[in-house]
Amino acid sequence: MTNHEIKIAFDEYNSIKELDKTDYELCLEAADALKNSHSPYSKFRVGAALRLQSGKIIYGSNQENVAYPSGLCAERVALFYWGANHPDDPVVSMAVTAQTDEFMLTKPVTSCGSCLQVLAEVEKKQNKPIKIILYVQQGPVWVINGIENQLPFLFFEDRLNA
Ligand code: THU
Repeated sequence: MTNHEIKIAFDEYNSIKELDKTDYELCLEAADALKNSHSPYSKFRVGAALRLQSGKIIYGSNQENVAYPSGLCAERVALFYWGANHPDDPVVSMAVTAQTDEFMLTKPVTSCGSCLQVLAEVEKKQNKPIKIILYVQQGPVWVINGIENQLPFLFFEDRLNA
């Protein structure tokens, strides 16, 4: 038997004010994106903002549907918009935030497995890791570099071939 250990890492800040200017501004854009959340069922609003290499910002928010599985998370709305409209302009960073009127969020919302799988493919396509910045108004900020620090055992395309 061999025991393998994989180390994943992330940085924690007390507030988005401790981030550098571009990351701080991207966080404010994510909060802006969340205003277009369509979440009448969960009442949980999520906003994502992508900063591209050119400086362009792309927005996403969770879009729910009365046929529940038809809805999509904020992260995938933004990442698929990127793929459809700006695939040659690499994604440098993604800020994600969430709000609900139901209770106080005190920890950042970490992306679901499906969003991480999509994020993995974007990184692969552009051959560059993406800096993920997760925050809520009343809690810490988590900065995670690349999919390998979130989903080390992801499904790799190379497994499809011998
Ligand atoms: N949601 C996101 O948009 N991103 C996440 O990272 C977690 C969950 C959405 C999906 C659904 O509309 C609502 O939040 C509650 O799960």
